Amino acid sequence: MTASTRDIEKAAEVLRAGGLVALPTETVYGLGANAEDPAAVSRTFQVKGRPPSHPLIVHIAGAEHLHDWAEDVPATARLLAEHFWPGPLTLVLRRGRRVPLEATGGLETVAVRVPGHPVALALLSAFGGGVTAPSANRFGSVSPTTAEHVRAELGDAVDLVLDGGPCDVGVESTIVDTTGDAPSILRPGGVTREDLEAVLGRPITVPSTSRVRVPGQHPSHYAPRARVVLVEPGKAVAETERAQGLGHRVGVLLPPSLAGAPVAAHAVIPVPASTAAYARGLYGYLRELDRRGCDLIIASLPQEEGLGLAIANRLRRAAGPRPTA
Ligand code: TXA
Ligand code: MG
Repeated sequence: MTASTRDIEKAAEVLRAGGLVALPTETVYGLGANAEDPAAVSRTFQVKGRPPSHPLIVHIAGAEHLHDWAEDVPATARLLAEHFWPGPLTLVLRRGRRVPLEATGGLETVAVRVPGHPVALALLSAFGGGVTAPSANRFGSVSPTTAEHVRAELGDAVDLVLDGGPCDVGVESTIVDTTGDAPSILRPGGVTREDLEAVLGRPITVPSTSRVRVPGQHPSHYAPRARVVLVEPGKAVAETERAQGLGHRVGVLLPPSLAGAPVAAHAVIPVPASTAAYARGLYGYLRELDRRGCDLIIASLPQEEGLGLAIANRLRRAAGPRPTA
C-alpha cells in the first residue's frame, strides 16, 4: 500500500522529533534522518551497524536548495543536476555549513541528491529540510527494494516505514565527484556513464574494476548470506551442476544467453535480457536465493555498458572476500 498524505505528514513529524523513517526512492529504500540533527544521523549508523567514517547522502527536495547544502556549486554540477534531477544521480560537492560532520563521516565534501520518487519528494517537501539516507539495510548486506525487505531486516529499529511500492531502478544512484578538475564516477548506478558523457560532451572516468585486488581492500558489500561465485556466462550451467554435485545448495542467476537451458540446481532464476529489468530485480533475486536456503550463488557479469556497469559492480562486490572478523 502506497503511503498516504497523512502517512507522509506523520513521517515528517517523526523526522522533526529526531526519529528514523525508512523511505522509498526510485533506486533503493533509504533510512532517513534529519540531516541537521547529529544525534539522529548517528543513530542511522548504529541501526545499520555501519562505521561512522562512511559518509551519507543528503536528500533534498529540489536543485534550487543545493546552495543551502554545498559551499560551492561548479558549473558541471549545475548542468548534471539540471539534466538528471530528480533521479538516480548523487553529486559530491564541497560541504556547506549546514551539513554536520556526522553526516559526511568527517569529510569536507558532501554527497547530495534529489530522488525521483513521488513519496520521497512529498516527504522532503513536507519536512522542508535535508534528509540523510543510506540504503535501509545492515552494513554490507543487500539493499532493500521493497518496504517488506526493510521491515524484515530492520524491524523495530526504524520508527516508521513509508511504503512506496517496489523500486523502479533497483540499484543505487550513480555518484559523481564534481570537486576535482574533471568529474568522475565514484560509484556506477542508475544513471549510465553513456548518459553522463552525452550531457557533459566528454568522457568521464570510472573506477577500474579489472585491477587485481589486494585481499581486504575489496570487502564484500551488497552481499547475500550465500557465497557468490562469478563464472563465464557459457559455463554457468556446468559450474552450477558441478557445485550441486559436490553437495552445495546452488542458486543460479541464469544468463539470458542460456535462457531455457535445463539445469540441475537447488534454485534457478532466469536473468532478464533487458538490463533495466535485471537491475530492478537484482537485489530481490539475491534475497530470494537466500530465502530458499542456497549456500552458493552462481552468476555471470553482464556486458559492462549502460546499466550493465552498475549490475557488474554490485555482483563483483557481492562476490568479494568476506570480512573474517
Ligand atoms: O541510491 C542511493 O544512493 C541510495 C538511496 C537511499 O538514495 N542511498 C545509498 O546510500 O546508496 P549509501 O549510504 O548506502 O551509499 C552512499 C555512498 C557510499 O558509498 C559513500 O561512500 C558515498 O555515497 N559518499 C557519501 N558521501 C560522500 C562524499 N562526500 N565523498 C565520496 N563519497 C561519498
Ligand atoms: Mg548502501
